[in-house]
Amino acid sequence: MTSPVTRRAWLRTTSLGLGAGLMLPAALPAEALAEAAWPRATRDELERYARSVAAERARVAPIRLASNENPFGMSPRAKQAMLDAYDEHNKYGSPSYDVLRAAFAKQVGVPADHVMVTQGSNEVLCVATLAHGIRGAEILAADPTFEALPTYAAHMGLTVHRVPLDANHAHDLDAMDRRLTSAIGLVFVCNPNNPTGTLVADARVRDYVKHTSARTTVLVDEAYHDFVTEPSYRSMVDLVLEGRNVIVLRTASKIHGLAGCRIGFAIARPDIIKRMQGFTTGVPNALAARAAIAAIADTEWQRFCVEQNTQGQAILRDAVKALGKSQTPSHTNFAFLHAGQPHAAVHKACLDRGFLIGRAFPPYSDWVRVSIGTPDEMRAFARVLPDVLRG
Ligand SMILES: Cc1ncc(COP(=O)(O)O)c(C=O)c1O
Repeated sequence: MTSPVTRRAWLRTTSLGLGAGLMLPAALPAEALAEAAWPRATRDELERYARSVAAERARVAPIRLASNENPFGMSPRAKQAMLDAYDEHNKYGSPSYDVLRAAFAKQVGVPADHVMVTQGSNEVLCVATLAHGIRGAEILAADPTFEALPTYAAHMGLTVHRVPLDANHAHDLDAMDRRLTSAIGLVFVCNPNNPTGTLVADARVRDYVKHTSARTTVLVDEAYHDFVTEPSYRSMVDLVLEGRNVIVLRTASKIHGLAGCRIGFAIARPDIIKRMQGFTTGVPNALAARAAIAAIADTEWQRFCVEQNTQGQAILRDAVKALGKSQTPSHTNFAFLHAGQPHAAVHKACLDRGFLIGRAFPPYSDWVRVSIGTPDEMRAFARVLPDVLRG
């Protein structure tokens, strides 16, 4: 080392002052460092250094277990379809939108005029809120649930009624029933729910959606539909076909691994679709639409992703159980764990070990949401979990 900075001072800055945006070299085994750079460094100093570099590397590029993404991404066939469609990139009016609409409609068993393709399903949440709340109608949603809709409604200045989850961390549909008034223009039901992963039994949610949709519009968010393995589970799409005041949401972000490509779907009566369509801000990306068409057809890849998710869930569940901790029964590609420690501390402890987990979901202040990565990633996570939860 020819630098005027002393070894001891340098060690101090790297191990203690890492937040300053310093670009550090890859972590080296302590022995290699001892040989190469600082023959006189103590073993403790070197290990401290190696740990700090590893922590910083993890902070820069942690394993993402935070946003319920598909860790395998899109299917190879979807990727190929996107590449094949490259020549569409400079043209308006791509036919891919209508082809995708028809392909999705066929998959879920509804006529194409019952489907709207959006830029991510987040857009469904926004345009449904706009279409139903623009004249000041109120919104009813569980708490906590997927926050995009209630947050958007609050930004619109709408009154949002929140109903806490029940003792099983699932939608409390009886309590939601009691909060329904004629002022409410849209009811949001996320099933399975994000962040808790819980599912309301088919008969119960079906009954609720049926009688509530006789009084107002109900949006059923089925973003995690494809991951549900519970045999009694059924989608609410058939209630749309019965002509009820129901919107079902689906997305290509989860099972199809297209989160960055932004493709979502609304399924509803044609008059509701038409009303919401007026509030959209454009059509989806043509290349993303091509990928989604291929993804919908690639049932083999979908099966693979579900199997991998089931494996990843089992690895995490076993690790959580072995530590004497609990989690909600998840029907999704994430798990909601009762860490029994403040979320911020667990989040940081995970990040220090190279894993980015979900944000806090008040009032669940000592719970954490962990997205399911690849089985290898979940094994690696399971190895650090005892350390993380020990505090
Ligand atoms: C329940 C739920 N609905 C909707 C979305 C929105 O997904 P996207 O806009 O990527 O389709 C998410 C994303 O995580 C979600 O968890």
